[in-house]
Order: sequence, then C-alpha cells, then structure tokens
Amino acid sequence: MTVTIVGSQFGDEGKGGIVDVFGERADVVARYQGGDNAGHTVVHEGEEYKLSLVPSGAVRGKIGVLGNGCVVNPATLFDELDALHERGLDPDVRVAERAHVIMPFHRVLDGLEEDVKSEDDIAVGTTGRGIGPTYEDKAGRRGVRIGDLLDPDVLRDRLAYVVPQKRALVEQVYGLDLDALDAEDFGIEVTVPEAFDEDALFERYRAFGERLAEEGMTVNCGAFLARRRAEGEQVMMEGAQGTGIDIDHGSYPYVTSSNPTAGGAAVGTGLGPTVVGQGAVVGIVKAYITRVGTGPLPTELGHVEGQTPPEGGDTSERGQELATYIRDEGGEYGTVTGRPRRVGWLDMPMLRHAATASGFTGLAVNHVDTLAGLETVKVGHTYELDGEELETIPATTEKWAECEAQYREFDGWPEVDWSEVADAGYDAIPENAQEYLGYIAAELDADIYAVGVGPGREDTVVVQDPFDA
Ligand code: IMP
Repeated sequence: MTVTIVGSQFGDEGKGGIVDVFGERADVVARYQGGDNAGHTVVHEGEEYKLSLVPSGAVRGKIGVLGNGCVVNPATLFDELDALHERGLDPDVRVAERAHVIMPFHRVLDGLEEDVKSEDDIAVGTTGRGIGPTYEDKAGRRGVRIGDLLDPDVLRDRLAYVVPQKRALVEQVYGLDLDALDAEDFGIEVTVPEAFDEDALFERYRAFGERLAEEGMTVNCGAFLARRRAEGEQVMMEGAQGTGIDIDHGSYPYVTSSNPTAGGAAVGTGLGPTVVGQGAVVGIVKAYITRVGTGPLPTELGHVEGQTPPEGGDTSERGQELATYIRDEGGEYGTVTGRPRRVGWLDMPMLRHAATASGFTGLAVNHVDTLAGLETVKVGHTYELDGEELETIPATTEKWAECEAQYREFDGWPEVDWSEVADAGYDAIPENAQEYLGYIAAELDADIYAVGVGPGREDTVVVQDPFDA
C-alpha cells in the first residue's frame, strides 16, 4: 500500500502536518521531486527542526528516501544531517543513485537568470537553490547523478563535459567575470571561480561521494522501495510544492521545474503508476488560497504590492479587510522573508484541475479554523472567460489571468474550541463548515480523509486513514 501526498494549490497547503499525521503508519517516506527549495518545520518530542531536504519522516524514525526525481545538493543534505546528529538524532536517509546533483554553478546560474529576467519584470521569483538549472541539465543529458559521485572516473568525465559549457555561459553569454561575482549573493559555500573549476569540483564532490558510500546512503530507488513493499512495509510518497507550480500543469513559466502532481510519484521513485494508483492519492487543500509571487489568482482578495498583477485582486475596502483578516488569522506570511502572501477565496476551477491531474482519492482540508468568525465564506465556483463559463482553468497562463471568478456563498461558522473538535471528531465540526467541506468533496468526487483545525499535528480531525482507504 502506498499513500501519495500532493499539494493541490501553490505549495503552502500544510502538507507537512498531514505527512506527520498519516506518516505514522508508514515505514518509509519517499520524496519524489524537488530539492532544497521546500522548507518544512517538524516538531518532534517538543523540539523544532527546520529542514529543506531531509524528509520529515526521517526525524520520526522512518526511513527517509530522496527519490530519483529529486535534485540533491549534498552540501545541504550533510549540513542538515550533521545538525540533526548534533541534536542527538540519527536519521536514516537514503538517496537515489539516479537523483541529479545540484552543483554550486547551478545556484549561480539560477541567480544570474533571475537577474536578467527581472530587468523585463519576468523573474519567476525562484528560491535560488539551483533547481531549474539542475533539471535543465538532467533533460539536456549533461547532468551529474548521485551514482556518478561514487565513481571518480565517471565524475571526472561528466565534469569535463559540463563545466566548460557553464563557464562559457557566464563569461560569453552573460559577459561576466567570474572573479567579480560574490559567492554570498548565490548562497554557495565555495568561491564563484571554484564553482566553475573542474578540479575543485571534482575534489569536493568526490568527497561527498565517499561519505555517501561510507554511510551506505545510496540506493537503487525503485528496487529498494519494491523490496520494502514485498516485505509488507508501508510507503508514503511525499510531494513537495504544489499543482499550481507543476512544470506541466501549473502556471507556466511561473513554476518550479518538476512534477509535484501524482504522476511525479511514479516517475520520481521508480514504482509504477499502477502501484501509486492502487494506493491512496491525497490532495492537500487549504480552505482558501494563497500564492507567493506574481501570476494569476482570480479569487484574490486585496492587493499585495509588487506581487498582485495590476488588474488583479478585490481592492474594495471589504476585500482588503477580508485579506488582512485571513492573512493574520492564518499566519500567511513567508516563513523566511516575512513577506505577506497573496490570499483569496477557494478556487474551485483550480482544484478541479488539480484533482484531474493527480486523481485524488481523498482530501485533507486545512485551515478550516482560519475562516471561522466570517459571516459569509465565498468560493470561486467557476470562471467566466469571453462570455463562457469554465469549470477548470484554461491551459495558458495569459488566459487564466483574464478569468473572472463566479462565486458561491456559504454561511460562515463560529469560532469554537478547535482542540475539542479535533478530539471529538468530524461531527463536532460546526455544521456550516461541514456543509462547506461536503461541497468541496462532492465537486472533486473525493473523500475527506482529514480536516486541519489548527497549526499543530494534534489539531487534525482524522476522518479516515488513507492507508485503510
Ligand atoms: P524554484 O523551485 O526555486 O525554481 O522556484 C520556482 C517557483 O516555485 C517560485 O515561484 C518559487 O517561489 C516556487 N516554489 C519553489 N518551492 C516552493 C515551495 O516549497 N513552496 C511554495 N513555493 C515554492
């Protein structure tokens, strides 16, 4: 049995909490895409751990696997592992030999491309972790894989091909002098000239390879997971980011470079789609919507300077008030930057699209408590575009930006003692909130597995464990 966790919006749906709750039954938790662009906070036995690469399950004694669909920065991985060791933990983390390696030059190139794009206001607002450039090299058949770090001859050959190209890109295309670039601007732990130096990279990455081998961390991912399953173990597949920034199904080009949707779980672990499909696929939904950075958001309330497009957002006094209310109640400020997130009503065309792309068998709806106290809760039920009613989002981002949300209204629900609700179960959820949840489940033709009613792991109403679904 597998359970696959997928973000159905823009990536801040509270996947971590649900992985925690339902991961309890899992023996292995495998991430299938992304890299250290995914920040998550894990609270375990009263201690807080901030991680970006180590799967949260590994802190709780599960085997954490970084699947072949991931891009792995070994420097980040070992920093996180060392920090966990210092705090007395000994997490069991395995890395797929087929996963691609993020090199320091990828981070430099990520930053340089964003700089160039920002001159034309088309920057994606990436996390600067080198994610896009690493996936580009994977698709361009010039990447370095984790398995290559274990074989010095292969590593030499791979670097000999790719590094001169990258140097030429910086010097001849961008016209920049490597010596004049500051490593701090790119968050790399070597100087910029070293980031583009074959010998320096060879020494550093060979050492990472030796450590991976000494600690027995590398695996043939699909075969490893299949063996575990054959022994009767339970596997959870953990998606990072969300459908709205999926490279195929998101708001291209304002996307990440991988597939957070459920298909990514098969490709990114090496277990087939039938295995993923025999299990549960859980769409994580926030009871409203948030987005960081630019791009369409037809149900947006209020306006965030520098992020909301000129025509976007309900900028009426009431719209601004609601935005502030939801943002403050939900703590919708970036964890690292403190920047306010854009907020809006739930967007059903987007959720229908997410459910179609991933085939959700069930849902976990978070932040239901955040909306408590509002007289009316609205939902963008459909869009109107060029006089037509749309049930799902159009395929181009430009058309999506032109869509006007058509709303449905629900009576609001009161503020209650949510921890009591979490203990008592689904029937204790206020009736109007149950109606809202019922609507979402019916529209997406999926069961409700869980309802998040507060920030903690214990503030979750578990309706059905997806491992039993
Ligand atoms: P990249 O993944 O660093 O290339 O960034 C591409 C886009 O994905 C940017 O808009 C990022 O803000 C967004 N993004 C990447 N990772 C996350 C995440 O974990 N949560 C939310 N947004 C993310």
